[in-house]
Amino acid sequence: MRIQHKCKKPTSFNCNAGSRCTATAVVWSLVGFLLFLHLYYLIIPRDGVGRELQVRMGHHPVIHELEEVEEENVQIPPPRKRSPRAVKRKPKKPNTLIDEFLDENSQIRHLFFPDMKTAIDPMNGNGNDSFHYYPGKIWLDTEGNPIQAHGGGILYDHKSRTYYWYGEYKDGPTYHAHKKGAARVDIIGVGCYSSKDLWTWKNEGIVLAAEEQNETHDLHKSNVLERPKVIYNQKTAKYVMWMHIDDVNYTKAAVGIAISDYPTGPFDYLYSKRPHGFDSRDMTLFKDDDGVVYLIYSSEDNSELHIGPLTEDYLYVTDVVRSILVGQHREAPALFKHQGTYYMITSGCTGWAPNEALAHAAESIMGPWETVGNPCIGGNKIFRLTTFFSQSTYVIPLPGLPDSYIFMADRWNPADLRNSRYVWLPLIVGGPVDRPLDYNFGFPLWSRVSIYWHRKWRLPPRAVPVNFLVLLV
Ligand SMILES: *[C@@H]1O[C@H](CO)[C@@H](O)[C@H](O)[C@H]1NC(C)=O
Ligand SMILES: *[C@@H]1O[C@H](CO)[C@@H](O)[C@H](O)[C@H]1NC(C)=O
Ligand SMILES: *[C@@H]1O[C@H](CO)[C@@H](O)[C@H](O)[C@H]1NC(C)=O
Repeated sequence: MRIQHKCKKPTSFNCNAGSRCTATAVVWSLVGFLLFLHLYYLIIPRDGVGRELQVRMGHHPVIHELEEVEEENVQIPPPRKRSPRAVKRKPKKPNTLIDEFLDENSQIRHLFFPDMKTAIDPMNGNGNDSFHYYPGKIWLDTEGNPIQAHGGGILYDHKSRTYYWYGEYKDGPTYHAHKKGAARVDIIGVGCYSSKDLWTWKNEGIVLAAEEQNETHDLHKSNVLERPKVIYNQKTAKYVMWMHIDDVNYTKAAVGIAISDYPTGPFDYLYSKRPHGFDSRDMTLFKDDDGVVYLIYSSEDNSELHIGPLTEDYLYVTDVVRSILVGQHREAPALFKHQGTYYMITSGCTGWAPNEALAHAAESIMGPWETVGNPCIGGNKIFRLTTFFSQSTYVIPLPGLPDSYIFMADRWNPADLRNSRYVWLPLIVGGPVDRPLDYNFGFPLWSRVSIYWHRKWRLPPRAVPVNFLVLLV
């Protein structure tokens, strides 16, 4: 595989016949150049304000407000009263913000899971809230019901110029199938919502429904259906859905495939299979510019990811597969491509509890992939170590807004999974990475991937014509 780096050092000097070009001169030029590069990166401040400034200079003004660093100062409430005997038995450690988040009776629960009174309502958004994203708030569809599209992904349909959001429809009771089982909701199906503006979402119904009767069917309600992703196949004119299919104990570890003639379904379920013969749990799809679609899935008991291209009809994997991020125990992959480089956000593996996101980068989608660090900026330290109390699921490219994406994540609510929330935040690519990599002499190879925390934010107004944006960049 050809490894190509962003800031690559010149590997050859061209001397034309007329110049007196000796080996010594070449060596000294190289040394001089390396010294210059070294000085350059020593002088450029790497953190805090310095980096900020650098990032700002490179970007279009409309992106600046998305890059404001917004701090959070959440007070942890004092511990609740316990009986003196309980205190004696087990002295209690002070609560952390993560304990508060996981405690469904926490006094500050409303900070993580605000109630219906503060819901985002697109039909009642003529005040100051129009087009604003509020990570963690209840988000209503155009009929006034909370959106049910967890572990979701977005398809932009060029034919209808419409965004479709597919995700797990989880509007049922949360329970434990057995004592050691994870919190779960029976399969109801895959929910689909449509939008022109990525903010006002119309419910298109359940486009792939659970099987109620047939207990041997993959989609029987007692099983698991997670992280559905839909892509369009130009050649067959079919909408193809891939999803994680499992049994209640997560031992099946397979992918399921369904197809439809329409983005709004209904989808016909085709089959399930362990891709390349490997166990497969969290997964996603990525469609490259050349139309080749890749399946990326956590495998070998979530210890590594596998990546491989699909067949031309997008219905099967091919024989080609690579192991990536081996031994790193990552899940919830979300891929995107920026100026020819592939990026991926993943989470750690801690069940429904939140953990630290990492960004990874690669010149070739098949790898090698390098881990470039935690992309989260703002909030506070705990916010950044928990991906703002959420888990990655998808990254939405924004045509007409270069360097900018929407990071889509789920704030899981294990006590009541249907009441899990969506955390959408701006993701911006630019500036040097803040963690030097192992074998590159300290020169950053990849652009920094940054996800900025905001309590409230919006995309720059659409009134700005695309051409105008392109001119300014
Ligand atoms: C909108 O914002 C303005 C200024 O911040 C405020 O005075 C007004 O009450 C807000 N209106 C609504 C409907 O929230
Ligand atoms: C139940 O599902 C299995 C697996 O999909 C299928 O082979 C079988 O025909 C189904 N049975 C009925 C009665 O539909
Ligand atoms: C899941 O595990 C539990 C406990 O080990 C067991 O009782 C149950 O039969 C298993 N269910 C399936 C579908 O494998």
